[in-house]
Amino acid sequence: MGLDHAVTKPHEALSAILAEDMQAVNDLITERMASKHAPRIPEVTAHLVGAGGKRLRPMLTLAAAKLCGYEGPYHLHLAATVEFIHTATLLHDDVVDESAQRRGRPTANLLWDNKSSVLVGDYLFSRSFQLMVETGSLRVLDILANASATIAEGEVLQMTAAQDLRTDEAVYLQVVRGKTAALFSAATEVGGVIAEADEDFVKALYNYGDALGIAFQIVDDLLDYQGDAKSTGKNVGDDFRERKLTLPVIKAVAMADETERAFWTRTIEKGKQGDGDLDHALTLLHKHNALELTRQDALAWAEKAKAAMAHLPEHAIKSLLVDLADYVVARVS
Ligand code: IPE
Ligand code: IPE
Ligand code: MG
Ligand code: MG
Repeated sequence: MGLDHAVTKPHEALSAILAEDMQAVNDLITERMASKHAPRIPEVTAHLVGAGGKRLRPMLTLAAAKLCGYEGPYHLHLAATVEFIHTATLLHDDVVDESAQRRGRPTANLLWDNKSSVLVGDYLFSRSFQLMVETGSLRVLDILANASATIAEGEVLQMTAAQDLRTDEAVYLQVVRGKTAALFSAATEVGGVIAEADEDFVKALYNYGDALGIAFQIVDDLLDYQGDAKSTGKNVGDDFRERKLTLPVIKAVAMADETERAFWTRTIEKGKQGDGDLDHALTLLHKHNALELTRQDALAWAEKAKAAMAHLPEHAIKSLLVDLADYVVARVS
C-alpha cells in the first residue's frame, strides 16, 4: 500500500474522492426503493439499506467511469443499479442461507419472514432494471442482465455443490466467479462502457473486477471461520452450519486422513452436527494450514486484479483501485 494511503483505507479514500457522486447514488437509491402501494417494501429496504454496507460495488462503477473521464449523469444510475442488484441478492441469499444477521442487524427474513424477503428482493431487481434502462445503453443492459443471470447460476451451483465432499477448487471457483465476481466485473465494466472508453480499457476494467470479486469472496469465506461478528456484522460459522464446501474446507478435506474424513462426512455430507463440531472443524483447518493457504489464494487473485490495471495510464483513481485489491484481502469487515 502506498504511503499516501497508509492512514486512510483505500475504500475510504475512494469514497472521499467520489463523495458527491456517492451521495447522489444514495439519494437515487432512497428515492427508487420507495413504493406507494406496499408499505412492507420501504420497511424492509430501509432496514437493510439504512444499515449501510460498504457500498463497494457502486463505488467501483463511479471510479471506473471517472477513471475513463466520463462527464455525463448515467454513471449514477448504473451505480445505483449495481447496489440494487446487490441488495436484492442479499435479501434472497439470507433466505437461502437461513442467516440471522446482516450488516449488524437481524436479517429481514428473521424480522419479517422469507416471503417478504423474496418478494421485496424481486421488487428491487425490477427497480434495478428500470434504472439501467434510463441510461439508454443497450450494451450496459446486456452486461447487467448477464451479470444477474450469472449470479443466480452461481447461487444455484453452490446449492447443488453443498454437502458434497467431491466439490473441488475448480467448482468453487465457478461458484464464486458467478455469485460474487460477476457483479464486481459488471460494476467496473459498465463504468468504462458508459464512458465509451477504448475496448482494451473496458477489458482491463472487467478483468480487474473479476479478480477483485474472486479475492473478495475468498476472504468472505475465510471470515466465516475466523472473522469477528462485531466487525463483519454477520454470524460466524454460517457456512459450516449450511454445509458449504468453501475453499478452506475443500483444502482441509483434500488433506484429511481417515478419521478426519469421517468427521467431514458426518458434519458436511450427513449434516449431523453437534456442540464442538465448529471448533473441531477449525482445529482441522489450522492443522492443515488451510486458512493460510486460502489467504494466499486470495492474495494471488488480488495480484491478478492489480496486474489487470498495470497498463492503464497513471491516475489517482487507478492507484486507489490498485490499493483496494490489497484492502479486500486485509479487510476484517
Ligand atoms: C456481501 O457483500 C456478499 C458477498 C458477496 C460476500 P458485502 O460484504 O459487500 O456486503 P455489504 O454491502 O458491505 O453489506
Ligand atoms: C453472497 O454469498 C453472494 C451473493 C449475495 C450472491 P454468501 O452467502 O457467501 O455471502 P454472505 O456471507 O451471506 O454475505
Ligand atoms: Mg449468505
Ligand atoms: Mg450464500
